[in-house]
Amino acid sequence: MDGDGNGLRLRLRERLAADGQAHLLRFWDGLKEAERDELLADLDACHFPEIMRFFRQAVQGSEALQEQQKVDEHMEPVPKEVQGSITRDREQLPTWEAEGLLQISQSKVAVLLLAGGQGTRLGVTFPKGMYNVGLLSQKTLFQIQAERILKLQQLASEQFGHKCSIPWYIMTSGRTMDSTMEFFVKYNYFGLQKENIIFFQQGMLPAMTFDGKAILEGKSKISMAPDGNGGLYRALGNQKIVEDMESRGIAYVHVYCVDNILVKVADPVFIGFCVKQQADCGAKVVEKTHPTEAVGVVCKVNGLYKVVEYSEITLVTAQKRNADGRLTFNAGNICNHFFTLQFLKDVVKIHEPKLQHHVARKKIPYINDQGQQIKPDKPNGIKMEKFVFDIFQFSKKFVTFEVLREDEFSPLKNADSQDGKDTPTTARHALMSLHHRWVLNAGGHFVDENGTRIPAIPSSATGMSEAVTAVVNDNLKELTDLPIKCEISALVSYAGEGLEKYVANRDFRTLLIIDENGAQELIKNGL
Ligand code: UD1
Repeated sequence: MDGDGNGLRLRLRERLAADGQAHLLRFWDGLKEAERDELLADLDACHFPEIMRFFRQAVQGSEALQEQQKVDEHMEPVPKEVQGSITRDREQLPTWEAEGLLQISQSKVAVLLLAGGQGTRLGVTFPKGMYNVGLLSQKTLFQIQAERILKLQQLASEQFGHKCSIPWYIMTSGRTMDSTMEFFVKYNYFGLQKENIIFFQQGMLPAMTFDGKAILEGKSKISMAPDGNGGLYRALGNQKIVEDMESRGIAYVHVYCVDNILVKVADPVFIGFCVKQQADCGAKVVEKTHPTEAVGVVCKVNGLYKVVEYSEITLVTAQKRNADGRLTFNAGNICNHFFTLQFLKDVVKIHEPKLQHHVARKKIPYINDQGQQIKPDKPNGIKMEKFVFDIFQFSKKFVTFEVLREDEFSPLKNADSQDGKDTPTTARHALMSLHHRWVLNAGGHFVDENGTRIPAIPSSATGMSEAVTAVVNDNLKELTDLPIKCEISALVSYAGEGLEKYVANRDFRTLLIIDENGAQELIKNGL
């Protein structure tokens, strides 16, 4: 090694040793120049004094959490006064929807997509938004969301007689940025205006051993992962996204996660409800029906609003039921949030630095001292993540809005498998079942090969006892396995509106697709 190389290594070793990370250089002498550059780039991205502070705080926080009993004792359900509901508040819905559309028409509403996750459970190497669940149209999650934005802009513009836009902020991570942007370019931004789509990148943190050593996944590569969807708030500040929102005159932001095929992007009813309640922060929820379902629950802990994540709640608490048989903690978080821009500004300026990382114990592939790559079979380290809902505690006026699972929540988390939950198949079925119901509501019918009308697909079982739920869901599964395939482009209808002209009093066989040229497709398949 030349003198310079030695000098660099010594300086690096000294710097890293101060934070207990000198082991990251243990292969340095045998690295080629390009590999050294790779390692140097990783080291540059890691500010270890800060990372070690995060590590110590996160571990302390997680030890406190181990004493779960204490957290559980302080959990209370969300009080009735702050809850809105799509079923209980039916008569208010038109008012809320009108308010939401008004705000959208004034270009005061932005949507923000959390798309920095790695899709580990789904097992894909590309961003989840690029996933095609096998719809008739073969549309990806990104395209479905883009078309809902386009349609909503159109609905609001038509109703109020002037053009408007809904800027779409897309948070990616080091792992998803390039492929996401390339995908949008390839599909010409799905018809949206390029300047209204703003990509930005969240931070990454190294995976750590339990005793605080950053993990090497290769001789010259640190194991890095995105810092959780709550990395949003730091990114909003350091990438000047809040300023961008302000310069566009945004007042309200709808934040949502990428994997819910039914997501009502910038839902005017939800926005209108939150605005009318003068809330600074709101969460859409669905009723949680099974104690072990993998959704967080919105609740209060020590008087502050929180989401207790599915990985953090004890079974005893998750199983608690009220006298009517419903789960006590049943406000299931669907990662669908409302914030005022003012609230986000306060979060970025004042609260974000106080947020602690959560600890996720993981099996993290690493390289051993002999330079062999090892895939551990039990957790060998932690990833540190902030969560998007960690800021609920700072809200001065918090609300929840309960919606129907079958209309609004079908996340894509896992790959297809028999009896799998939250898979491409369940997502596809959920969308086609919803669109089937839209057609029925608009006066259309589906008939079998004998011309007999096929009954409507019932709602999935919500709010029932587990035994009843199981039976209804079994029936539902059978019915959703019926060969009805129905898909309506969001460019035609955002939430089931405006379909009468295509379907009223018409019978359809098993396949119906209404795309932006709706009528032609319909004639092909209509009887
Ligand atoms: C999330 C919620 C959970 C909720 C469930 C509903 C959080 C922390 N948890 O859980 O309460 O019940 O959805 O489906 O919100 N993401 C990033 N950056 C990251 C990590 C994730 O942008 O570093 C994004 C993902 O791309 C995704 C969203 O955040 O869009 C949710 O992430 P995911 O890991 O799927 O969360 P869940 O554990 O399913």
